[in-house]
Amino acid sequence: MNEQKLIDTAKMLVASNKGLLAMDESNPTCNKRFAKLGIPQTEEYRRAYRELIVTTPCLGEFISGAILYDETIRQQKKDGTPFLQVLTDTGIILGIKVDKGAKAMAGHPNETITEGLDGLRDRLQEYAQMGARFAKWRAVLTIGDDLPSRGCIEANAQTLARYAALCQEAGLVPIVEPEVLIEGVHTQSQCGEVTAAVLQIVFQQLYTQRVLLEGIILKPNMVLSGLSCPQQASVEEVAAATVQCLLRTVPSAVSGIAFLSGGQSSELASARLNAMNLRVKAQAPWALTFSFGRAIQQPALELWHGKESNVLAAQQALLHQAKCNAAARQGEYKAAMETGS
Ligand code: 13P
Repeated sequence: MNEQKLIDTAKMLVASNKGLLAMDESNPTCNKRFAKLGIPQTEEYRRAYRELIVTTPCLGEFISGAILYDETIRQQKKDGTPFLQVLTDTGIILGIKVDKGAKAMAGHPNETITEGLDGLRDRLQEYAQMGARFAKWRAVLTIGDDLPSRGCIEANAQTLARYAALCQEAGLVPIVEPEVLIEGVHTQSQCGEVTAAVLQIVFQQLYTQRVLLEGIILKPNMVLSGLSCPQQASVEEVAAATVQCLLRTVPSAVSGIAFLSGGQSSELASARLNAMNLRVKAQAPWALTFSFGRAIQQPALELWHGKESNVLAAQQALLHQAKCNAAARQGEYKAAMETGS
């Protein structure tokens, strides 16, 4: 294992003002988002949408790495240029989602275990040969009555750690994503307790599986009130609780933390990331940045609506969200940026 190469890649992914763009929705998830907007759910529309994203001018100023899906990593622009080449030419590092999705977990009603370890070593080798330098695996935890269970947390944590070890063996930096879902009536403090418990077990497992912590990126949820909780935490409360939770659970050897957006609006995701960076610039040992999917893409997807004539406007919206988040990771985001003032 080339440790230095892993550390260098991890550091590049969280360098300066940049963050990650998650554009790795599986086909069913991408189709679901298209269906909501009446966009045809075909391979060609998915390709055209991903072409819009990867050809957005100046994206590399704010985005260090892009996470692709298996279909997308093999696709090309209409003129035949592989997406891989387009991204590499803009200085964006290639990443790939390698899990096979969260599936119902036996003996654990309403909980999931993420699958995809079988054959992973071979798949990682293929992706590395194609030019990928990092990978992503998402585990999903739900807060509810007596949930998440210890069995679900432990199984997902061990799976994440085994994935991470295989990635590092193949020379890829693993993004370790244990997502505690935003859906539910839970309070912010319940989210904080569950997130801390999950992260503690994830890091125990990473240690047990001999994962090099300097060569990973952690992709956690922020500590939020459940979407249906009547009492919603303020931006400052989210920043404080999230940073406190991470300081208690994440070893300082970890190179960087890149949050998922998890269904927050673009504005709130930026404002909360900004508040964290304002609060902790001095005390946090790791970079605190973004690895957003919906919070970067959603406005662009809505503007595009599947129409060629909307591509430029959609690209401007995508770049705008990337720029807002780059500002937020430096504590320089202002709500006025949303109105262009
Ligand atoms: P969201 O930011 O839309 O949650 O997507 C991030 C991601 O990669 C989920 O796995």
